[in-house]
Amino acid sequence: MCAVEITPVVSTERLILRGPVITDAPAIAGLVNDRNVSGMTGMIPHPYGLSDAEAWISRAQANDWDRDANWVIEHQNFGVVGGIGFKGAGAQNNGRPEIGYWLGRPFWNRGYATEAVRGALKWVKRDWRKNVVVAGHFADNPASGQVLCKAGFLYTGDVELRPSAARGGAEVPTRMMVWLA
Ligand SMILES: CC(C)(COP(=O)(O)OP(=O)(O)OC[C@H]1O[C@@H](n2cnc3c(N)ncnc32)[C@H](O)[C@@H]1OP(=O)(O)O)[C@@H](O)C(=O)NCCC(=O)NCCS
Repeated sequence: MCAVEITPVVSTERLILRGPVITDAPAIAGLVNDRNVSGMTGMIPHPYGLSDAEAWISRAQANDWDRDANWVIEHQNFGVVGGIGFKGAGAQNNGRPEIGYWLGRPFWNRGYATEAVRGALKWVKRDWRKNVVVAGHFADNPASGQVLCKAGFLYTGDVELRPSAARGGAEVPTRMMVWLA
């Protein structure tokens, strides 16, 4: 018997969350190479080129789906518009995955991030069978706080200093949130 690993796919009203493929690299690089996007994340560097996107795709394809999840967000008309995932569901993080996401700037303020986060959380509960997700958004990123609130996260009251690669490693006050299934 041979085991077949199937990458999960999540469909929402306008979006599909699916595993990245190498042909997504130009679209990802084009959207992420924007400090307004990368500077609101911890890990994404700036500038961000094709080789960065290809390296991320390779890592995502080697994903251990018990611990991490990595999808591109594909719009039914516009193709790849963003990325979303969870990391650290392993023991070192008390089994609590942390959500991360980004949308390319041309696609902001159309409700896509909220729709993608809600869809991903349905998968977390029903298929991944996790019942806690943590999140942290930089204090100067209220739009992300709004997305998380709309998706059902609550502020814990904790503020952590977290580095941002695209801000040269500067530590940024980060408001922590939690979601319970
Ligand atoms: C944060 C981000 C994902 C939001 O994506 P989006 O698709 O525009 O989000 P949505 O349209 O679903 O919702 C945005 C909400 O923020 C609100 N918003 C936008 N700018 C805001 C601001 N400056 N202050 C407060 N709220 C703001 C919008 O009005 C909307 O809320 P509403 O529907 O209640 O009106 C996107 O801006 C992004 O990718 N930013 C860079 C990367 C990033 O921040 N990733 C998250 C790291 S924690």
